[in-house]
Amino acid sequence: MALGLVTAGESHGPALVAVVTGLPAGLRVEKDAIDADLRRRQQGYGRSPRQQLESDEVQVLTGLRHGRTLGTPLTLVVRNRDHENWLWGMSAFAPEGEPSGKGVKAVTLPRPGHADLAGVLKYGHDDVRDALERASARHTAAHVAAGAVAKALLGELGIAVTGRPVEIGGETTDEGMREATDAARRARDTLGGVVEVVATGVPPGFGSYAEKSDRLDARLAFALMGIQAVKGVEIGDGFALARRRGTEAHDEIDPGLARRTNRAGGLEAGITNGEPIVVRAGMKPLPTLMHPLDSVDLATGEPAQALVERSDVQAVEALAVVAEAAVAFELARAALEKFGGDAIRDTLAAHRAYLERIVGRWRR
Ligand SMILES: Cc1cc2nc3c(=O)[nH]c(=O)nc-3n(C[C@H](O)[C@H](O)[C@H](O)COP(=O)(O)O)c2cc1C
Repeated sequence: MALGLVTAGESHGPALVAVVTGLPAGLRVEKDAIDADLRRRQQGYGRSPRQQLESDEVQVLTGLRHGRTLGTPLTLVVRNRDHENWLWGMSAFAPEGEPSGKGVKAVTLPRPGHADLAGVLKYGHDDVRDALERASARHTAAHVAAGAVAKALLGELGIAVTGRPVEIGGETTDEGMREATDAARRARDTLGGVVEVVATGVPPGFGSYAEKSDRLDARLAFALMGIQAVKGVEIGDGFALARRRGTEAHDEIDPGLARRTNRAGGLEAGITNGEPIVVRAGMKPLPTLMHPLDSVDLATGEPAQALVERSDVQAVEALAVVAEAAVAFELARAALEKFGGDAIRDTLAAHRAYLERIVGRWRR
């Protein structure tokens, strides 16, 4: 069975949920490892006090016993602690009693760059909240939890995946990124940036050129573009390759099959080539602004300023964790396609046999 993922949950509802299907049985999953990634997602220099409010922690409802997968659907739950302030506003059924807490007043001022206008038009909502609750990046917490499980699987195969910010507000040094964030905070503005995810220990042969939907480069791009606010994805040297000559663009092959360079980012013809996978994602500045942009009040049709809310200055460090999870999940899916296995020991045996077949052709 292919590795599958369904997530559910609203930003201020009771919880976020991830259901992971197709995991082999016997995989060790540690709560601490999932919680550590959930915390990493919440940290970062540009985050808002909402992040301190939420101290995310995973709860596992199904598919795990004594720390090992059962080979059945794994259900991960991350509670929204802030939900207690939204009990009336986010009540699943017609709320009882006097309106109280947050989410009582309908939002009618769509923010340019957010889901607000497109969402209400598409689904016929009157309250922008009905669109933004799910469109919000809060539900990336569910993806990060699933990604942590994927990393546990990849770890068994000697594969490590790490994401980090490489550019914030056009700055590429740690200090520059911090200064740009401080300056944007003082100007009450927001920033975007670029994150890089690197996967090491990936053997050659994940993905395929047989059909475009099999190509792992395409699948990683899809996984990253599926994250809120990501507007561009690069594999290896990406767009820079388009400006070089062929003699400067490819990775020469040495005896032992090592490469002198890794401009391709570990992928040729949609297949891993044994070099580290290197992918980058570009994030636009966050659309919730303290200095709102011009918009229209959907209740009156009159010109108005967009909704103003306390927001993060930038969430590039958080995106690095979310992107890491997305890449890990897609690599875990590709690993299970290649090696299969109802039990993790079958997966590992197939992995070992494969490496033995290509040994001598590929250094490890
Ligand atoms: C980790 C993460 C955190 C985000 N935090 C915010 C935020 O605090 N405020 C905001 O307006 N947008 C935030 N966004 C971006 C919006 O969710 C996103 O711009 C919106 O859903 C519209 O989707 P699009 O940008 O892909 O078109 C965040 C995105 C990510 C990945």
